[in-house]
Formats: sequence, C-alpha cells, structure tokens
Amino acid sequence: MQHQVLILDFGSQYTQLIARRVRELNIFCEIFPYNSKSFKVEDYKAVILSGSPFSVRAEDAPHPDLSAIKGKLPLLGVCYGAQFMAHNFGGKVGASNTREYGRANLSYIKKDDLFFENVSEGSQVWMSHSDTIVNLPSNFELIGSTHDVKNAAFKIKGEATYGIQFHPEVYHSKDGLTILKNFLVNIAGLQQTWTPDSFVETTVAELKEKLGNDKVVLGLSGGVDSTVAATLISKAIGKNLYCIFVNNGLLRKNEFENVLEQYKHMGLNVKGVDASARFLKELAGESDPEGKRKIIGRVFIEVFDDEAHRIQDVSWLAQGTIYPDVIESVSATGGPSATIKSHHNVGGLPDFMKLKIVEPLNTLFKDEVRRVGRSMGIDDELLGRHPFPGPGLGIRILGDITAEKVRMLQEVDHIFVQGLKDDGLYDSVWQAGAMLLPVNSVGVMGDERTYEKAVVLRAVESTDGMTADWVNLPYEFLQKTSNKIINGVKGVNRVVYDISSKPPATIEWE
Ligand code: XMP
Repeated sequence: MQHQVLILDFGSQYTQLIARRVRELNIFCEIFPYNSKSFKVEDYKAVILSGSPFSVRAEDAPHPDLSAIKGKLPLLGVCYGAQFMAHNFGGKVGASNTREYGRANLSYIKKDDLFFENVSEGSQVWMSHSDTIVNLPSNFELIGSTHDVKNAAFKIKGEATYGIQFHPEVYHSKDGLTILKNFLVNIAGLQQTWTPDSFVETTVAELKEKLGNDKVVLGLSGGVDSTVAATLISKAIGKNLYCIFVNNGLLRKNEFENVLEQYKHMGLNVKGVDASARFLKELAGESDPEGKRKIIGRVFIEVFDDEAHRIQDVSWLAQGTIYPDVIESVSATGGPSATIKSHHNVGGLPDFMKLKIVEPLNTLFKDEVRRVGRSMGIDDELLGRHPFPGPGLGIRILGDITAEKVRMLQEVDHIFVQGLKDDGLYDSVWQAGAMLLPVNSVGVMGDERTYEKAVVLRAVESTDGMTADWVNLPYEFLQKTSNKIINGVKGVNRVVYDISSKPPATIEWE
C-alpha cells in the first residue's frame, strides 16, 4: 500500500473524521498516535496534526518532536495541532475569554494563498476549543481570522506549514473539504488516485504476491466485511480460497440457503456446513447470556476447525477485520491507549491451527468496504444488509433456546424486516430485529383466552453501533406489523416496540 498522508493523533474525537475526509478526496492516509513507533515519517508525503482534548499549556499535554517533519514535509496543524506549533515555536497560547464552540465565519482570508483557493470570506467554519492562539511567532504569517478568533489560520513563512484553529473535517465547515484539498493537492502536490478500483487493483496484486500458491481458509458470515474480503482474495487466488459458511441454527429465516446460493453465484469456492442441530444440542438448557455466547463461540470454532482440517495444507486464515478495529487511539490521559480491539465473530482461533493471518480490509472504513464491494460488482442488497451479530438469534431469545423458539423468532423477524423493505424503510434504519421474551401474557383471540409469548421489535439508527437511538417508525407501519405477527406467528400474542437508546440500553438484549 502506497503511503501518502500521515495523520498524527493527539486524541481528538474528530481524528477519524480527518482520515475519512482525506480519503473522500481519493488520497490514502493513515492514523497513528503521535508517539507511536509504528510509522516512518520519511515514508509520507504530507502530515496532518489532529486536535486534542488537552491544552498545550497543561504539563502532561502531548509535545511531539516535529524536527523530522516541519520544513521538510507539507504540514497542517488542526486545532490543537495549530496551537502546539504556535506555542512551541515562540508564540503564545492562552485560555479563550469566550467559549468557542460551533459556528463561526471567516471574516478575513489571505485571498492569494493557495490554501484558500475557492474559499470566500464569510465561509462557515466549525470551532471546538477552549484555548486560543494569543500571539503568533514572528516568522508566522496570519492568513485567516473569524470575528472572535484573530489567529484562526496561519502559515510559516518560506515553508509549506499551515495551522488552523477550526475543524475542516466536520461537515459543518462548509469549505472544509476544499481547504483540505487545497493543502493536499495544491500545496503538497498529492495525486487523487486512491479510488475503490485502484484499491482493488493494488490489493489483488499484493495478495497474489503474498499468497502465491498457498491455500487460504475464510469464515463467511453473510455480512459485508467477510463477503468483500472473500471476493478480493478470490480475485487473487481463485479456488485456493476455501470459504466456510456455518449454519449455527440461529440465522434468519432461509438465510443459510439464500446466502449460500448467492455466494456460489458470485463464483466463490464455498462450503456450507449445517451444524444447527449440534449448536442447539449444546445450547440446550443454557439461559445465561454470557454462557450462550461462550457455547456459540466454542462450537463455531470446533466446527470451523473440523472443516479447515479437511483442506490439505492450508496455511492462511483470512479475516474481514476493518480499520476502526485496528486503529490505536490516544486516550484522554495521554499516550496511546492499549486498546486495539480484535472483535470478530470467530472469537480467536485455537493455537494449534497455527495459521498466518491475512486481513485485506484492515485499512478501510466501513463505507469504503461497501464502495470497494460495489466496484467489484457485489450486489447492493448484500452490501446494504444490516449488521447481524455472530451469535445471531441466540442473543435475541431471552432465556433458554429451543428449536421451536428459534422458529417463532425467525418468523417474527422475517415479517418485521421484510415489512421494512417493502415499505422502503430498511435503508433508513441501521439495524433492526426482534427479541423473544421469556414471559407469557394473557390475550384473547376470538372467544378464546390465550397465554402466549411476547416479542419485542427493535430498530435503531447509529453510525458504528457504539451509540444508537431508536427509530421513530411510522405508527401505521408498527400497527400493520403487529397485526401480521400476532395473526401469523403461532405462539405469539403480544408485540412491543423498544424505545430505549444506547446508552443506557444496548442494541441487543443480551
Ligand atoms: P450492543 O448490543 O453491544 O451491540 O449494543 C452493538 C452492535 O454489535 C453487535 N453485536 C455483535 N456482533 N458478535 C458480533 O459480531 C457479537 O457477539 C455481538 N454482540 C453484539 C450488535 O448486533 C450491534 O450491531
């Protein structure tokens, strides 16, 4: 992968947004904590310093050594990054008299500077800082101000070094993308060549080189990441990629058959393994959420491992890990935090498999995975699927799991999700599903008393699943869906809609 832009992270909540905006310009970039040892500055063509929750005046604030960067590579400091440069090179940073959050307008810009090409005075920018640059060092030139912030943008004379107090990466900075483009293209001279097609081309070439004639095994889940990873690897090594799609008996109605058919249609070398009976047998009598997860995870590994051992001489395990799972971030207490998540459905493979790991998507954000998938011709329906947890309906059936409960929930889920699709609501919801509660309630059907199960419908909006809010689905839709469920699914006589946000609730009930 060609290195282009290095983003040094000082812990801002917006750092990932800088990366996404740079990549929207078709320029590849990577994020590292400012004090990481995992990158070499000389590999890059430009550097961006992020914002930070710290004040440069605080004793424990990050103080990076910029000697290998400043004056040698085009450099842009954003918010904290700009304040750090001003503070470190002889200027003065102090607390702002007023809080400076939200909307501001550029009241002055140096019009003949390439940095502000196609940006007009008055352009809205977004501020989020409590310190301000009081004085610039003498060799800094003021190139932009807002009404409240005089030193809102500067450059260092004779260098391609810039600093801005506002955040070009947030969507509310109207010309933010133009400003980033001006810096990266006009000033740093970078080419905008990093497109989904070019990613596919380079990645396939790299995979060919790396994997040669080796055999690779991959667990398909029906989700976007594993499907796109499989398609890329398959393009590189064809039938030497062995995909395994396990039916744990906790998938959605007809999902195993439908998705397996789709995979075969796509030309993937895939084996469907129906292990539903084994999973249900092992889960029998277990009601504890963590207990269920552990059983599902363990049995998955056993089944996967059995299948992988049937393939002679396999040497790699492929995974659909994506960039947010591997970015190290700077914690609010300084220093890179050690939390590199390794959340995947496989839950870690047993040591004895001793496979090398290949993760072709580990530099991409989720929306980029979709774009890469689209550029390889993967069906939009597959790419637009809602996330679905590895343990499947197992963590949506509260209490113990039986084949009958799975059937009931599959029917309920199908009516709900198909209804969202039919009414054009599916794409405006991030995730939707149903839970089966372990309680019976009294109802009346015809003249008969019923004493049957209650189900919960849940639909949320979110961007990454970390926080979420319930979706305000139209009453008519809820009414229609409730009727269909109660009339159509034997054993259910009550439907409720979950109106809890995350936090404090979670998306799944277990
Ligand atoms: P929670 O319930 O923690 O869920 O708010 C956040 C997102 O993660 C999904 N989820 C999982 N995905 N394996 C997965 O692959 C799991 O064990 C798992 N648990 C929760 C959940 O569906 C939601 O999208």
